[in-house]
Amino acid sequence: MDYWDEIYRNGNYEWGTEPTITCKILREYLRKKDRARVLDIACGYGRDCIFLAKKGFEVRGIDISGKGLSIAERWKRDEGLDIEFKCIDFLTSSFSTDSFDGILVSNLIHHLGEKELTIFINKVRRILTPGGIAVLLFLSTSDNQYGKGEETGKNTFKTKGLDVHYFTEDETLGLFSLFKVLKLEEIEIVEPHSTGETHYHKEWLLVIKNEEGNVVLSK
Ligand SMILES: C[S@@+](CC[C@H](N)C(=O)[O-])C[C@H]1O[C@@H](n2cnc3c(N)ncnc32)[C@H](O)[C@@H]1O
Repeated sequence: MDYWDEIYRNGNYEWGTEPTITCKILREYLRKKDRARVLDIACGYGRDCIFLAKKGFEVRGIDISGKGLSIAERWKRDEGLDIEFKCIDFLTSSFSTDSFDGILVSNLIHHLGEKELTIFINKVRRILTPGGIAVLLFLSTSDNQYGKGEETGKNTFKTKGLDVHYFTEDETLGLFSLFKVLKLEEIEIVEPHSTGETHYHKEWLLVIKNEEGNVVLSK
């Protein structure tokens, strides 16, 4: 079974039912926009989608894990909400240009390789409207798991069969240089797990804006 399907196998809310900080921040930035269209990339079991749908956003959530999405579908039904969930890989997905006013990405990009990250960034630029906002959360080199496991690349370590990359501030600013960076802050995340353990992480909270008039690559 795939790594993420295995995580969601029991149907539990693995990291609780509280939304992540990303969707609360995206909500603040898009507050003035009526029925803003939002995409949650790698939505897992949908905790951020549920929060945003309740606040009146038009929400789509995508993920590669069918098991995660079946928890999301169940939760959506129980709440009587209208959210479109789809089981697709963002890297090969085919959304139209300027499809979303807001994008959120919690805890995905530290699992992407270098080439995947380039595809990811170009795609986000293309599908976000001019002036659109994306909020991302990803691991920092200050995280307490940094250096654990087999080193497979610069600031990258393999644990439980999964590569995890830890980002520096300079690297982040370089990668997202074609966007306007509205906020880049290192924060501590307290994460209660369904096992009863609590994990603490140091992550980057990044808020970027798609500048108007950008030249956008077609792929
Ligand atoms: C750590 S979980 C985060 C889930 C959710 N954002 C949250 O914070 O609750 C990472 C998620 O990324 C998804 N994922 C990994 N690669 C993906 C890809 N290429 N496209 C879409 N989803 C992906 C996994 O299935 C998993 O649900």
